[in-house]
Amino acid sequence: MDGKTVAAAGPGASRDEPVLDRLGRRLHDLRISVTDRCNFRCIYCMPREVYGRDFAFLPRGQVLTFEEIVRLARLFAGEGVEKLRITGGEPLVRRDLPDLIAMLAEVRRIDGGPVDLTLTTNGSALRSLAGALRDAGLGRITVSLDSLDEETFRAMNGVDYPVSKVLDGIAAAREAGFGPIKVNMVVRRGINEASIVPMARWARSEGHILRFIEYMDVGHSNGWRLDEVVPASEIVAAISAEMPLEPIAPNYPGEVADRWAYAGGDGEVGVIASVTAPFCGACTRARISADGQLYTCLFAVKGTDLRDLARSGVTDAELTDAIRVVWSIRADRYSELRSEATADLPRVEMFAMGG
Ligand code: GTP
Ligand code: 5AD
Ligand code: SF4
Ligand code: SF4
Repeated sequence: MDGKTVAAAGPGASRDEPVLDRLGRRLHDLRISVTDRCNFRCIYCMPREVYGRDFAFLPRGQVLTFEEIVRLARLFAGEGVEKLRITGGEPLVRRDLPDLIAMLAEVRRIDGGPVDLTLTTNGSALRSLAGALRDAGLGRITVSLDSLDEETFRAMNGVDYPVSKVLDGIAAAREAGFGPIKVNMVVRRGINEASIVPMARWARSEGHILRFIEYMDVGHSNGWRLDEVVPASEIVAAISAEMPLEPIAPNYPGEVADRWAYAGGDGEVGVIASVTAPFCGACTRARISADGQLYTCLFAVKGTDLRDLARSGVTDAELTDAIRVVWSIRADRYSELRSEATADLPRVEMFAMGG
């Protein structure tokens, strides 16, 4: 979007009101991708056959600087954002990430309070970085881990990465003072279903909050098929057979994960059922990719370029107007509309957009 479009369509008079999209949803979370690179090649995200040595990731000049990221985060916070999630690719491969965290920790919500500042990582660099991230003001950490079984995990991460190193990263995060730590497991039929119950046992005994994620048709290079999705109901039933679960209320309206507590009272698991029980109705998430595109849906085919707009020298007010326009015309509800017809759309990859 260029400056002219913004001026023509700017929401002007209503700038003091929180911006609502066409379905009445406000803006609450901002997910910021700090790099499109990753040291893993998970089969459901960056399959090795597609993202080999020759793949062209973003050149440095196209990636937002820390100052540009913080400016955008500050403007989004001014529009009601209260949670910032740092993602990638793998965010910890971005050089000097703790410096960015320290800068983002200064961002304030409209009510003056600190933002909920959190990070999603594959855990591989936590042994070296967890302490610095904590000191910089990071509030929470979520680690992706798809199995405790060595062979299964090595095959899923695509680079033969050992489970023990991720477990050590999680331990380092705990030693640095993070907790409870969330662990995200993508479940794919025929690949890691057998890991569901062992992962639940482990997370329960360690005091981590494990969340099972239904395998999604994000991007267009993972060859997704509906019959590879293990429905959340099946996951809950498998765990309940050994460790009975009871549903519990969400922490906040629109929480992505449905929460289930162990009947014994020690701990909980979450299921993220974006395929079998979409949650678009309460979706308050915006995403900024490493190169400054604003996406209003994880399944977007196209974004709005905030980087070039910001670099063109516009004022904060002009940039804010651009954000408000994009949000005000948003009508995304992809997961509710998913069908055969949507399966082949040229969607932006999740690692490029930010999970
Ligand atoms: P908390 O702040 O800890 O509650 O985080 P969260 O519940 O937002 O979860 P997280 O950011 O860890 O997201 C977990 C996973 O849920 C992501 O990796 C995605 O797979 C999926 N997810 C998150 N947001 C969306 C969304 O807007 N749409 C869809 N379809 N899936 C999402
Ligand atoms: N389906 C579900 N979740 C995915 N992620 C990446 N690709 C997919 C997919 N196809 C999520 C996982 C991972 C995070 C970085 O992105 O939650 O933990
Ligand atoms: Fe990397 Fe995360 Fe994608 Fe795996 S899911 S390839 S760790 S960005
Ligand atoms: Fe939000 Fe799009 Fe996910 Fe629906 S599919 S919850 S609109 S990001």
